[in-house]
Amino acid sequence: MTFDIARARRETPGCERVLHFNNAGAGLLPQPVLDAITGHLEREALDGGYEAAADAHADVERVYAAASSMLNCASGEIGIVENATRAWDMAFYAMRFSAGTRILTAQAEYASNYIAYLQVARTTGVKIEAIANDEHGQVSIEALENAIDDDVKLISMTHVPTNGGLVNPAAEIGRIARSANIPFLLDACQSVGQMPIDVEEIGCDVLTATGRKYLRGPRGTGILYVRSELIESLDPPFLDLHAAEWTANGDYRIRPDTRRFENWEGNVAGKIGLGVAIDYAAGWGLQAIWERTRGLAEALRAQLGDIAGVDVRDLGETRCGIVTFTKEGSTPEDIQTALAKRSINIAVSPRKYTRLDMDARGLDALARASVHYYNTEEEVIRFCKAVEAV
Ligand SMILES: Cc1ncc(COP(=O)(O)O)c(C=O)c1O
Repeated sequence: MTFDIARARRETPGCERVLHFNNAGAGLLPQPVLDAITGHLEREALDGGYEAAADAHADVERVYAAASSMLNCASGEIGIVENATRAWDMAFYAMRFSAGTRILTAQAEYASNYIAYLQVARTTGVKIEAIANDEHGQVSIEALENAIDDDVKLISMTHVPTNGGLVNPAAEIGRIARSANIPFLLDACQSVGQMPIDVEEIGCDVLTATGRKYLRGPRGTGILYVRSELIESLDPPFLDLHAAEWTANGDYRIRPDTRRFENWEGNVAGKIGLGVAIDYAAGWGLQAIWERTRGLAEALRAQLGDIAGVDVRDLGETRCGIVTFTKEGSTPEDIQTALAKRSINIAVSPRKYTRLDMDARGLDALARASVHYYNTEEEVIRFCKAVEAV
């Protein structure tokens, strides 16, 4: 299958200004997404915020249908919140743990999630255990299977970590969670938008994602999926008049769907833009996006690996569009600064974002180049020349 790169780049105005290998930070907005956001902001300015939202009701609602068709779930199982962390927190802090029970997580877990585990461990006495990696550097399915017992109350893992190309075997984790009847929370912040994600195939009960990364949506948007069977058992940590109804002076009723984790006020233009971004990704096809992105990332790994002093650091059997590396004699910050002078964007992954994994590998920081389908083979070559020159 051929990918119409010329069109993808034509519809991505940022391509003319930067070589953007920071898609795991924030993808460049496509023109239709930009138009949807700015169009709604203009209507807010001209007509009034409430009035503009009422007129755009169908466009706002579209995001639920778009997200549910992308993830293969019902639209009532989708909530739209401010970011992936808020989505994750709303579900996690709605769960109840007690002393002596266990939460199983992974080595490459994201700092915000791990801090939440530690906080809840302090207040409840629940034990947090990071499952060992296998020989590929991904969650060991065997170790996970061996760790299961009646005390395990949650399996909570990151699909693609912030600090590398690793794709954890989510469907195999889901199979174990299902057979043991343990809720499975999947942080898919870095994977949604770059590969097909099907919550039925994976078998997760909660999934969280962000709008701004591989989905190329607006900043300040996050997606929460909660399986319908679980919703009623989760008491949101915060409620407002959108999440619940004040039914009598002394009573309230919480919404029956995943919107119980939302709140009333929000970024309406962002919600509209996120719906357009998901539809735009679907227009290219998540499978086609995945194949192209992986192909570019493998080319980047191969070419970086040929540069003297450069070590590519990605783990896992399946590797995605995120490429991490170090270079002898330069810190990742040096590399980022030098590349920025040539209008090349990358990110730095510091140790404190994925402490368990970085400590185990003796790494302090990594340069992170994350490609997307609208990047080109020519950009990969240009990028590697620039890294060589650092
Ligand atoms: C694995 C992972 N989880 C969660 C997040 C948080 O996403 P957000 O910034 O949208 O809250 C990130 C952000 O980089 C991430 O890499």
